[in-house]
Amino acid sequence: MERTRENIRRICLDTQAEKAQFGIVIMAAGKGTRLKSARPKVLHQVGGKALLLHVIDAALTAVPASAITVVIGHQSEMVRAAVEAIPHNAGIRFVEQTEQRGTGHALQQVKTAFAGTTPPEHLLVLSGDVPLIRPETIAQMRAFHLEKHADMTILTAFPTDATGYGRIVRKQDGSEVFAIVEQKSLSAEQLSIQEINSGIYVFRTAALFSHLDELNANNSAGEFYLTDVAGLMVAAGERVVALAAENVDEVLGANTIAEMMHLDAALRLSTTKRLMAAGVTIFRPDTCVIDEAVEIGPDTVLEPFTQVLGETSIGSNCRIRSFSVIQNSTLGDNVLVRNGCILDSATVENGAFVGPYAHLRPGSEIGEEAHVGNFVETKKVKLGKKSKANHLTYLGDAEVGNGVNIGAGVITCNYDGVNKHLTRIGDGVFVGSDSTLVAPVAIGDGGYVAAGSCVTEDVPADALAVARSRQMTKEGWAATKREKLRRANS
Ligand code: UD1
Ligand code: CA
Repeated sequence: MERTRENIRRICLDTQAEKAQFGIVIMAAGKGTRLKSARPKVLHQVGGKALLLHVIDAALTAVPASAITVVIGHQSEMVRAAVEAIPHNAGIRFVEQTEQRGTGHALQQVKTAFAGTTPPEHLLVLSGDVPLIRPETIAQMRAFHLEKHADMTILTAFPTDATGYGRIVRKQDGSEVFAIVEQKSLSAEQLSIQEINSGIYVFRTAALFSHLDELNANNSAGEFYLTDVAGLMVAAGERVVALAAENVDEVLGANTIAEMMHLDAALRLSTTKRLMAAGVTIFRPDTCVIDEAVEIGPDTVLEPFTQVLGETSIGSNCRIRSFSVIQNSTLGDNVLVRNGCILDSATVENGAFVGPYAHLRPGSEIGEEAHVGNFVETKKVKLGKKSKANHLTYLGDAEVGNGVNIGAGVITCNYDGVNKHLTRIGDGVFVGSDSTLVAPVAIGDGGYVAAGSCVTEDVPADALAVARSRQMTKEGWAATKREKLRRANS
């Protein structure tokens, strides 16, 4: 482990000039037939992020975006858009493989794209469907490739089940590689080989390009296999070496939904381990769904069956109770999210309480020590410090001051059927239960709204608004009515 770190440090210190020797190609044109999905395989997600975006992020730790080429083909526009939607991917180059005739054919398109230019001296080739590759391993491969003066370096592994992968046939003395044989072409004795091809390679570019035109599709899949380049190089007296990955999980492919869910679990487990190492308590981590980018402070507790997704950050000493789903939200310290809440693009400041069963929709800003209680829905709302909306309320398009009490069942009527309007509530306001506030409307600081009011006009500071019909009480009316009914029935 220490040696690996030292390696990374060394690689990171590489000069830009040395980096320029390496380009990265990511093969992402395939259809993913085995998924039986309408979406392209490389856009399926593990750990809350598309397979291809995992691979690109790993690649970006080794080279700048301008040195990365992504081969796209199947639904290429959708794949390209997903990559370009991320600002740090700007500068990545795309090469179209209009017909997907195999991984060798994919690299032939790259060669064509480089025609007339000087390609980087070495090409690291990654597979868009091998998402857990670590930056450390990329760095290690690069160092190994240079140290061995290799023409092709293959990242290999020894998984518990090698079925489906290409196998590494070593030379007699075991030191170098003789060939890669695809699953479908394995002979009876080769079936027992446990060392698999990860689909990740480093090539000396000139050697790779010189053999691509020799590939043929004379195999049961009728594809041009990039893996055949290994045998062609050996026949030409070039050097093909293999480096075994330290961690099998990182080279596992995602060809089926089941394989993806296996990777998803592995990735999420490592996220929970990272968080627990940083002081977060996660009860039954195997039941929690936590995305990779999530940050959580120490002494925060996550109860079983919570989901924390996207770019969410939670402070320290919070408690997230079971069955809450928090997405792209920011929570301060000492926040309590009770059971069954949904938070989406919301912020919750220090010491606030939310739920149970609250729905904080985008633009909800819950202030310090504020309370949002049972069955309360908020949207584009600023709820001030120590303000409370504890029961059965809808607050949409509203600015609520500090120390406000919103009674049970209060509704901001923000929509007139065409436009949305704002409700403004000052500091220290008391809104009685079951009131409706028809926006645009404002209630001044310290104002009171009587329960059951339908407020359509602004209420000045410190005023009382009663907007309902006055109570009428008829003494004895009920008794008389009952007597009448009894007589009619007898
Ligand atoms: C490939 C390797 C196999 C290795 C395995 C590791 C070949 C022939 N075999 O098999 O030895 O054990 O990966 O995961 O390379 N792609 C294209 N264009 C194409 C075909 C594929 O860009 O025409 C892309 C796919 O999108 C995918 C990657 O290349 O990201 C690998 O293709 P896939 O068909 O999944 O290869 P495997 O059968 O898994
Ligand atoms: Ca694959």
